[in-house]
Amino acid sequence: MTDALKSAMAHLALFEPGHVWLTGAGPGDPGLLTLHALKGLAEADVIVHDALVDPRVLALGRPGAAREFAGKRGGKPSPAQAEITRRLIALAREGKRVLRLKGGDPCMFGRGGEEALALARAGVPFRIIPGITSGLAALTMASIPATFRGVNRALILVTGQSGEEDAPFDWTALARTGEPIVLYMGLRNLDSIAAALIEGGLAPHTPAAVIASATLPAERILISPLDRVAAEATALGFESPAIIAIGEIVALRAELIALASRVPDLVA
Ligand SMILES: C[S@@+](CC[C@H](N)C(=O)[O-])C[C@H]1O[C@@H](n2cnc3c(N)ncnc32)[C@H](O)[C@@H]1O
Repeated sequence: MTDALKSAMAHLALFEPGHVWLTGAGPGDPGLLTLHALKGLAEADVIVHDALVDPRVLALGRPGAAREFAGKRGGKPSPAQAEITRRLIALAREGKRVLRLKGGDPCMFGRGGEEALALARAGVPFRIIPGITSGLAALTMASIPATFRGVNRALILVTGQSGEEDAPFDWTALARTGEPIVLYMGLRNLDSIAAALIEGGLAPHTPAAVIASATLPAERILISPLDRVAAEATALGFESPAIIAIGEIVALRAELIALASRVPDLVA
């Protein structure tokens, strides 16, 4: 470790007993952790983690730290959100340094906001540590630029799943913006979402990408027109977790890869 890196690590915030760090673990590849997350892993007394936190990231935790799973496993329902926050509050009140580790960014479709609010209401000191969200990491790793001058001026990040309490979603309005769409948790409903977007005005041949297990050894990428992407993803056995990108930014991948392949080491 260089002196500059040691100094940067030494100047990070103290992880104090009785505090909770709501921390993003990034999309999976341990190389995409932040220094804050690494410090949290190294110093936590207990790590409360979700299913999407990669085992290689968890392995970076302090050997003596307890690890508690708080997510879906083997199709069983996940613990209720209230149960998780009660547990975080109890651990903090025991004087533990609690690392609440979530895949991607904790506040991007990750209920980080809800957990922060519950901790604040209970008077438990906490900090929120951002992580690289899978929606952006997946695109960049797949050589799909999230923005590109002359192609798009905005990017829509949206979930393909809705809770019972949610009003029906207006996919037509999204399609009308003409801006590229990055869909989280969208694989299961991709067929109906693609149909709604086409109905809303997107051309059936709009390029789409499904990026499954982004940044993980099992990463898979499918590029297909919007009107066929759901059927092809099913036929090829694509599984969650997956990010779906829809829009002309996806077409830039082919050109980038073709040119980059002439430059060794530019594209992994
Ligand atoms: C509950 S959301 C959590 C999102 C997370 N907080 C984030 O910022 O990436 C779960 C969804 O994130 C996406 N996701 C998370 N990790 C992924 C990965 N490594 N590859 C592809 N998609 C991923 C998938 O759409 C998955 O269904």
